[in-house]
Formats: sequence, structure tokens, C-alpha cells
Amino acid sequence: MSRYQHEHRRSLTDPEAFWAEQAQHLHWYRRWDRVLDQTTAPMCRWFAGAQFNTCYNALDRHVEDGRGDQAALIYDSPVTGTVRTYSYRELRDAVAGFAGALRAQGVKPGDRVIVYMPMVPEATIAMLACARLGAIHSVVFGGFAAPELAKRIDDAKPVLAVSASCGIEPGRTIAYKPLLDQAIELSAHKPARCIVLQRPQVKADLVAGRDLDWHEAMASAQPADCVAVAATDPLYVLYTSGTTGKPKGVVRDHGGHAVALHYSMRAVYNVKPGEVFWAASDVGWVVGHSYIVYAPLLLGCTTIMYEGKPVGTPDAGAFWRVIAQHRVSTFFTAPTAFRAIKKEDPRGELLKQYDVSGLRTLYLAGERSDPDTIAWAQDMLKVPVVDHWWQTELGWPAIANCQGIEPMPVKPGSSTVPVPGFDLQSLDAEGRPMGRGEIGNLALKLPLPPGALLTMWNNEQGYRENYLERYPGYYLTGDAGYIDEDGYAWIMSRIDDIINVAGHRLSTGAMEEVLAGHPDVAECAVIGVADQMKGQLPLGLVVLKSGVERSQAEIQKELVARVREQIGAVAAFKTVLIVPRLPKTRSGKVLRATMRAIADGQPYNPPATIDDPRILDEIEAALKARP
Ligand code: COA
Ligand code: AMP
Repeated sequence: MSRYQHEHRRSLTDPEAFWAEQAQHLHWYRRWDRVLDQTTAPMCRWFAGAQFNTCYNALDRHVEDGRGDQAALIYDSPVTGTVRTYSYRELRDAVAGFAGALRAQGVKPGDRVIVYMPMVPEATIAMLACARLGAIHSVVFGGFAAPELAKRIDDAKPVLAVSASCGIEPGRTIAYKPLLDQAIELSAHKPARCIVLQRPQVKADLVAGRDLDWHEAMASAQPADCVAVAATDPLYVLYTSGTTGKPKGVVRDHGGHAVALHYSMRAVYNVKPGEVFWAASDVGWVVGHSYIVYAPLLLGCTTIMYEGKPVGTPDAGAFWRVIAQHRVSTFFTAPTAFRAIKKEDPRGELLKQYDVSGLRTLYLAGERSDPDTIAWAQDMLKVPVVDHWWQTELGWPAIANCQGIEPMPVKPGSSTVPVPGFDLQSLDAEGRPMGRGEIGNLALKLPLPPGALLTMWNNEQGYRENYLERYPGYYLTGDAGYIDEDGYAWIMSRIDDIINVAGHRLSTGAMEEVLAGHPDVAECAVIGVADQMKGQLPLGLVVLKSGVERSQAEIQKELVARVREQIGAVAAFKTVLIVPRLPKTRSGKVLRATMRAIADGQPYNPPATIDDPRILDEIEAALKARP
């Protein structure tokens, strides 16, 4: 049996012993009574009875162990021309200070704090300060518009919001504070306090009696120590897209999450304490939570917060510059970023200007890695390129080529094998295992390992309905795929209407709700169509109400603006077609998959239940004529 097979099997046959062993690497105020508590099955809890604090393990522990002067976080911001390093001691002190500021504003263990910030160190400081107090952070990605932020505020009911005066996109600043103000106006729940980081590019107006300046709040604060919380207590809620406009609040715990992330740094990423680990993502996404903030710090690595883009800040050599300047050993990004670099610098001329010899491995995730991108990255960097698969819900990689256990041959297009802790299966409609190579619904046999979601915030029933009820005893991933004769997993597509745009997960259902709210729209559909750069792009098809005689171009413009204003620029919703009718089954179900196939120029077989096949010709003509 290979080392990988041995470790994977042991994690499934004796999970309690396996994870207890991994937990030894961390500090516990009180040891657990049970490693795996299944009294609430199908939900389970890890390290029940233990007392723990994630911030202590990410910062204080390392300072006490002699790592105080090592760089913990490097803020590298080409958009502001800044590079700033925080040692473990400096980061701990900043976090303790901000935790004191939060406490002074009445934040208590269990309270929620919304963090709506750009990629500045203060975002990480705010997250860790919440963890320090046992408060629950909920970070909202800066590219979401005010109504999306309002939905999250209403669900999480934060006592306080942390924000900044602006974010910086290439060539423009985005004032965040007016978006926060608008969101608070829209939401039924109102946070009592907002702490705002004033950045020199934009000055935010502060609301008297509610808003505080970050630096003033810090100046008067007493540093706060770590609070021992139950290992099973929530560390954070992170909202992700579901099939409807209502985002799902994924809840993660303190103890199990830290154990899983710490393990992943060794097993999946093969990283050692003291090394520089860079995940080029955003703290608004799960990759940012797990691999910008928590995992690198839990292991004692140096993490990088990069406020920039792969191209345009200033050029397609930006990633190579950061890797060389900070001696990055392990790099993680989304395939889109590499496609963007490849487009601008196909022969890698800019790479020649930098010494990236410190780089050991490149990891790609968030969307399908196309074999061309993998081959190009391998050719340029001459390091292993590891495609790995996971989801916001799971918190850490579930399918990977585990470099720290045993590197396996790469099959481009496959994310390789299930990571220890994950029992991956491909099931048919009735829940029977599919044969090797047969496409089915990918599911994970329960219990999920530590680090995976505990439940959905405020909505345990939603967790059961969305994930657990389809196949009793399994977690439904929402992806279709197969496992081949060598045990390699191949992800093929989503089974729902979630799309993936530039590595960002988005709900077409949410976009449809926005389009349907336009007074001239009778019905609509949004589909994800293939895009060379971003993987997928949303495309809207709308049928106007009869009697609408306004200019179609005007309505199209309004619809595009509406999605941007209500969901955000990140939706990248730029194309909407006005069609006479939508193709449907006789029972009224819109044939989105068929339209997607037509848009992508793929062969398609309309279902036998199609109501009027002639509509497909109209759709095909409209799609062919699109800009
Ligand atoms: N705040 C405000 N607006 C934001 C934002 C933020 N934090 N992040 C993105 N936006 C805006 C962008 O400015 C853009 O606006 P535009 O329509 O006016 O141009 C829009 O949202 C779409 O952004 P993005 O998807 O980043 O596209 P882009 O065309 O600006 O850049 C790439 C293309 C490939 C460079 C970019 O998508 C990228 O870096 N992708 C990597 C993805 C990634 O790291 N994903 C994380 C998961 S691992
Ligand atoms: P998110 O929750 O934003 O991380 O998105 C998770 C979804 O992104 C998964 O369910 C997949 O559909 C897709 N995804 C993530 N990683 C990969 C990958 N390596 N290959 C293919 N799809 C991926």
C-alpha cells in the first residue's frame, strides 16, 4: 500500500486517533472529552469539551516559542506602492490592541462582527481580533454591492462593522464607506457601531455617535488577551452563493478548523514553519480565510497580503516580482490569473527579469484548471503545478495531489485523489456508487473531517435540505464528476445553477431575481457561458412584458447596471439578450442547460418533454448574433 493510501485509509477507519494525533501540534486550554461527537448526527462536532483559541495558536504561541521576530505578514500593495512587514510580535500586538478596541465597543464572545474591507493588513487584524475575543467574524468581499452586504448584515446580525474608506482597483478607487452606509440603511438589523480605517486616497464621512476612526479606537484601547472558548464554538460565518438570491452562511468552528488547516499545510502543501506561503486571493473568499490568514499563521509561516492584480499592477510580471522579492516557496492562485498573465505575456518575457528559484510548487483551485494553463505554468515555472479541488463549505482541500504525503503523477484535468479525511464517492440518482469512470454526483461520506462546515448560520434546516437529505449519510458537493480506475477524481460540472466567474462563485438565481425585478421584464434566465479568460461569464436572456415599446438597447443597459448595483461589479454581468420566448419543458421548467450548450457551440439533445422545439432556433439565432 502506498503512503498516501495508508494515510487516507487510516483517516477513515480510525478518524478519532488520526485527528487526535494532528491536534497534538496545537495548544489547548483544556483537552477534549471526545474527538468526534456524533450525538447530533448527521451533523458532527470535533474536539467536544475542549477549550481553545485560534488567535492564540496563530500568534501568541509562536511569539512564546521564539518566533516573535519572524515576519508573520507581508503587506505588498502595488496599487499604493507599499510593502510593510509585521513580525509575529507586531501582529500579535496589533491584534491584541484591536481586540481591546472591539471590547471597548461592547463586543463579547459569540457576537458577530461584519468585516467589509479591501486587502489591507487591518482586515486580517480585524479577523484575528474577533477570534481572540471569541467573537464571530463575517467577512464580505469588497466587490459585492450594498444590497448583498445588507443581506449578510440581516442574516448575521452583527453588533459592529469594520470597514475602510476605500478599496483600490487598477485606475480607480472604490469608496467603501458609502456602500456600508447604504447597506445599513437597507438592512432591518443595524450594527450599533462601525470602525472605519481612513485611507489617504479617500476620506470617509463618519456618522456621529455610530462611527469611529480605526486609529482613534486603537489609541485608547487596552490590549485584550485571548479568551478560551469551546473548541466547537463558531470562529466565523462566511457567506457563499447558493442557487437562490439568499447567500448561505457557512459556519466554521475554532478547534477542528485549526487542526485541519494545520494538517493541510504539511500534508497537502508540504510547507514548513518559517517558509513564505502566498495565496493570491482575497480575504472575502474562503481561500483568503484559510490560506492567507489562518493556515500559514497556525503553522508559523510568513503569509502575504497582496493588494493588486495578476496583470495591470503594473504588468503581467507582478506575480513573479512578489515571488522573487519575498522568496515565496509555495504559491496558490486561481487558473484565471494564469490565463490573464499568459494572454499578456505568452512567452514569459517578464518572468526572465525575476529570480523565482525559491518557488517549489504552484497550487491552482477555485475553478477547473484547463490542461493548457497547467502546461503553460509548468513550462514557465518548471515546478509541479497542483490542481486541487474544494469548496467554501469544506474549508480546505478535499481532492489534491498531496505533496507532503506522497507526490503522485499528474493527470492534467484531474485534481488527483481524495485528501485524508474525505471519503469521496460518485453516486447515481438513487445513491448507488457509480462504476470507475462513470459520471455521477460527487458526495462525501459522513462524518466530514474537521474544518468542514458545522452548519449554516441560523439555518440548520437549510443545511440539511441543501446538503444532507439528497443522499442520507452523505454530504452532497453540488459537483458532478467521476473517479477513474486509478482512484483519480475528475470534476466535470456543477449540478445546480452556480457558476464560476474568474474563480468567483456566483449564483445565476440571484442574478435572475435582479433581472426579474425590472418593471419591463416578464421572465428571464441567466446562464454561465464559456469564456476563455474567466472560465465562465454570466449571460442573461429576458422576455419583455407585452406592450413594452421602449428602446431595447436602453433596457439592456438598465439591466446590466441593475445587476452591478444590486450584486456588484464582481458578477461581471455585461451581456443580456432580449428574446421573444424562453424554451421550456411542458411543465414549465426553463431549459438552461440546453441554452448553455447552444451558447458554447456544444452538441445538445433537447429533452423529449420540450414544449416547443422551434423556440430553440430563435434562441440560437439570438446567441449567434450576440456581441
Ligand atoms: N472591490 C471592488 N470591486 C472589485 C473588487 C473589489 N475587491 N474586486 C473586483 N472588483 C471589480 C473589478 O474592478 C471589475 O470591475 P469592472 O467591471 O469595472 O472592470 C469587476 O469587479 C470584475 O473583477 P475581476 O473578476 O477581478 O475581473 P477583472 O477583469 O478586473 O480582472 C483577472 C481579471 C483575471 C485579473 C481577475 O479576475 C483575477 O485576478 N482573478 C483571479 C481570481 C482569484 O484570485 N479568485 C479568488 C479565488 S481563489
Ligand atoms: P467556492 O466555494 O467558491 O470555493 O467554489 C467551489 C466550487 O468551485 C466547487 O464546487 C467547484 O464547482 C469549483 N471548483 C473549485 N475548485 C475546483 C477545481 N480544482 N476544479 C474544478 N472545479 C473547482
